[in-house]
Amino acid sequence: MQNHPAANGDIVSQTEHRVSTRRADTRHETREQPIERIRAINNAVGKPDPRDGIPALGFTEYWYPLIAVGRVPRRKPVLVKLLGHELCVFRGKQGIAALENHCTHRGAALSQGRCFYEGTVSCPYHGWTYNEHGTCVAVLSEGPTSAVPGHASVKSYPVCELKDIVFVWMGEGEPSDPTVDLMPELFDPNALVMNDVTIWPANWRPALENFNDNHVSYAHRNSLALLMIPWIKISYRGARPVTTGGSVRLDTYDDGSTAARPYREWIEGVDGYWPKHEWRRHWAPLFRTRGLKWLRQLGTASGTFAESAGEVADDPEWGTGPHLPGMIRLSRGDNMYTRWCVPIDEHETRQFYITAFWPERATTRAFTKKIRWPITFRFINHRNFGLQDAVFLANTRYDRIERFSQFDVETVAWRRFCILTARYGRHDRIPKEELIAAFGGAAAAAEGESANGD
Ligand code: FES
Repeated sequence: MQNHPAANGDIVSQTEHRVSTRRADTRHETREQPIERIRAINNAVGKPDPRDGIPALGFTEYWYPLIAVGRVPRRKPVLVKLLGHELCVFRGKQGIAALENHCTHRGAALSQGRCFYEGTVSCPYHGWTYNEHGTCVAVLSEGPTSAVPGHASVKSYPVCELKDIVFVWMGEGEPSDPTVDLMPELFDPNALVMNDVTIWPANWRPALENFNDNHVSYAHRNSLALLMIPWIKISYRGARPVTTGGSVRLDTYDDGSTAARPYREWIEGVDGYWPKHEWRRHWAPLFRTRGLKWLRQLGTASGTFAESAGEVADDPEWGTGPHLPGMIRLSRGDNMYTRWCVPIDEHETRQFYITAFWPERATTRAFTKKIRWPITFRFINHRNFGLQDAVFLANTRYDRIERFSQFDVETVAWRRFCILTARYGRHDRIPKEELIAAFGGAAAAAEGESANGD
């Protein structure tokens, strides 16, 4: 791990995909939903809305994925925005460095500067030049007699590089141990870890809460991934939230009822079948054949998470479910998927996808990197499938009174969990007794010890 002192940035590489969706006009909302009045009443009776306790710009005392190492040019800095901050990212002498983006001289954006000398970035305005620790080491416009070098600096952010991904510490306090806060596959020499980024025009909170509810079979019904399955039916009957120090997930909830349900079901209220047609079923068997099976990505087709990506998937802390500070984790057959919702600002989220595979043979490894990953993950999953969420989340409101169904059980549990985190600042500081008090017997301690006996 490197520890730099400095400041600045904005990226958005050419490969990041954005969804341009017009944001709904929100000015009328106060009249439609007197939410402040309702929240005041809720507070008065001791039932505050948990969403109020989840910071719009994310939890700060954590490591976040910043950028893929390969996306930082040799001679130019890039700007990366996260958690409302702008960081100037460039190549230092000991690895990628991240400084606050605005020059301490008169505030120009360092990310618009150049990297003329190894391990430094020069401001575009008067040439104040900073090293990876944020120290001003030269003023190019003033020459060798300048009195500034050594007497001026910008903030630098602690960073570490794991599996070709740069992680940055966004907290005010001492950086936590990355082996505690970051997923174990990043430290596994046998894991092949791939990454990808898209941008969703939504705040990170609704973006993250778009996970283990019942939207998939409906909202994504025309995605390539679901056209291959072709339908997912789930039951959350009896599901209970299981918590650890850093994650919330559901315990085993498959009651067998999903397998018994027919593909099309009659819905009384609309006097018709859903889905309306059966044509999806006709080609689905094709994607269960040996030659095309690799194209299917949603290993959750049975409605359970029974398939395993090995030890990580079975880990109570790092298995399927949301994990602080903003990850969705999903065990999908032979891989472990993470969609990390990194807040850019209040209105945008960077989806940083980190997926680990454990290929045993060199040929499988090459196939995964060169063919399977680009087609099934980058295109089918992150873009075709994931950006469908982005379209409707762009205009989803997060400040209205909600009505839950049983399928929102994990969302509710996640919000309650966030409140605890917000109170203690960091997940590894939540006392075990607090977790058990909040979630009953279905709670485990921060160290991953299960207390699931009720
Ligand atoms: Fe950066 Fe002057 S504002 S060198």
